[in-house]
Amino acid sequence: MNLKRTHDCGSLRAADAGKEVVLAGWVDTRRDHGGLIFIDLRDRAGITQIAFSADTDQAALSTADRVRSEYVAAVKGKVYLRPEGTANPDLPTGEIEVYINEIEILNTSKTPPFPLTDDTDASEVLRLKYRYLDLRRRPLLKSLMTRHRICSVVRNYLDKEAFIEVETPMLTKSTPEGARDYLVPSRVNIGKFYALPQSPQLFKQILMVSGFERYYQIVKCFRDEDLRADRQPEFTQIDMEMSFINEEDIYSLIERMMKDIFHEIKGIDLPIPFPRMNYADAMEKYGSDKPDTRFGLELKNLSEIVKTTQFQVMKGALAAGGVVKGMNAKGLAGMSRKEIEDLTNTAISFGAKGLAWMKVTAAGLESPIKKFFDDGTLSEISRVLDAKDGDLLVFVADRKKVADDVLGRLRLEVAKRLELIDDSKFNFLWVTDFPQFEYNEDEKRWEAMHHPFTAPRPEDVPLLLSDPEKVKARAYDLVLNGSEVGGGSIRIHRMDVQSAMFTALGIDEARAKERFGFLLEALEYGAPPHGGIAFGLDRLAMILTGAESIRDVIAFPKTQKATDIMTDAPSDVDNAQLRELHIKRDVVT
Ligand code: AMO
Ligand code: AMP
Repeated sequence: MNLKRTHDCGSLRAADAGKEVVLAGWVDTRRDHGGLIFIDLRDRAGITQIAFSADTDQAALSTADRVRSEYVAAVKGKVYLRPEGTANPDLPTGEIEVYINEIEILNTSKTPPFPLTDDTDASEVLRLKYRYLDLRRRPLLKSLMTRHRICSVVRNYLDKEAFIEVETPMLTKSTPEGARDYLVPSRVNIGKFYALPQSPQLFKQILMVSGFERYYQIVKCFRDEDLRADRQPEFTQIDMEMSFINEEDIYSLIERMMKDIFHEIKGIDLPIPFPRMNYADAMEKYGSDKPDTRFGLELKNLSEIVKTTQFQVMKGALAAGGVVKGMNAKGLAGMSRKEIEDLTNTAISFGAKGLAWMKVTAAGLESPIKKFFDDGTLSEISRVLDAKDGDLLVFVADRKKVADDVLGRLRLEVAKRLELIDDSKFNFLWVTDFPQFEYNEDEKRWEAMHHPFTAPRPEDVPLLLSDPEKVKARAYDLVLNGSEVGGGSIRIHRMDVQSAMFTALGIDEARAKERFGFLLEALEYGAPPHGGIAFGLDRLAMILTGAESIRDVIAFPKTQKATDIMTDAPSDVDNAQLRELHIKRDVVT
């Protein structure tokens, strides 16, 4: 490149008229108006209109003739105000254009397999295969810039708060965050495997034992789990841990951090402190431990009210120790039988056995199951669900867990359908007082709801072995608009409590020693009280950019099938490579 860039393509304004400039970038579009050629030159900062006129140097003109979309070029010329009436108010550089007298083609380009416009209907497979081109599209570039700015706010903030950034190993031992591990075979230690970290959980606790007091890291984590719209097999956490703190310190620290992030990225002055809700209330009112509080449609427990009903579905569920819960799908009484059937099928796909319903009309309630209830019960149901003419009341009778989950998910469906969700709102919520354990029906054993290092409430420690279902954890999640953006806990810092916790989880001493011996031992060398939290950076970036897919805020994401279409990973490896690792292929298909 002979020309030396003086400005980027986003910065020239009317005040720059008359300046000689050199710009460099990609040819976004090229328009030929019979003798007058215009090129929109694009770099990461923006787009500037380049103009050629009949007076332009002949050599430059003939070079301009050869230029096509996505060619890389450097141009030299003079800034002019655009003629009256031709300014482009949509472009920050729209008041000017650069008439050029020199152009250097720095590289040619094949025609891209899809147009690199802001909106695209190109298939995601194609976009992922040519990710380097997709990333040239302004919305993706902008999302990744936002992600970068979030990281930079976080780093500044945590630095100010006296946190030390420490890197923890990627080749490590299995950490118990509940998903499957990605394993890496060791060549030097035949038959042994490293695990990629599901989180730096144990290392950050060890750093507290080492006296670092305040640790953070923006770090890749790996989880081999089924992918969803907001999950990736490798994702990034903003991970932190602190000593000599309690829950309140963490809430306050994080609220101020979120305030900084929202101020910088959105120009929003976030009100703090954030509201809090305990887990039991979240499940009862929203059927979810990550409630979206941007809209109402609260669930109501009707078990008491309908306890005398002859409706077998409800009677049976209550007799089996279950519940009857209802929700008012405001204004949906107009749904046809077919639409209600679809809604029922949706509920069934969420795990319900069916969906009972009542329409609220001017003439009263209308429902195939109305006959099973006396008038007093019907009016109680209407009162509790705040039934108004035009509403649709829906009911699920089942085990509490199922009823909560199904109605919780229907609630989101209905809100989408009714367009109740205000996209301009950012509703944070701390969810607190989680149960320490969750019963795994398949494996018939208790599991840690957060992870095995989470401290129980001090008053519940004696219940760890006798009444695990009563133990509450000192754990908290931060929910934003119905998405779990972060989660953490105060940790167990005493070896005897940690051992009891393992016993409660059915992990015997030998196994605990084999898996977490180093932590148990470390706890015996003056472990301070400590706790922490980790945020899903990708999820946070998704919400802050309004992205619909987590893939839109990750430069090189994986597909739903955990593949990278651009590099074609995962891929086959040579037998020689496997031999070196002492691994034999035994593919069962
Ligand atoms: P947890 O497992 O809750 O906690 O993870 C913390 C946050 O990471 C995000 N997250 C994910 N994001 C994208 N794809 C995934 N597959 C994925 N899995 C999790 C979520 C989640 O809230 N060590 C603990 C933290 C602690 O206790 O300090 C941990 O990893 O936003
Ligand atoms: P059935 O008695 O199976 O004909 O069901 C009568 C109505 O109750 C139908 O609308 C079903 O969808 C609904 N239903 C069935 N099981 C349940 C359940 N567990 N909870 C709520 N409604 C149900």
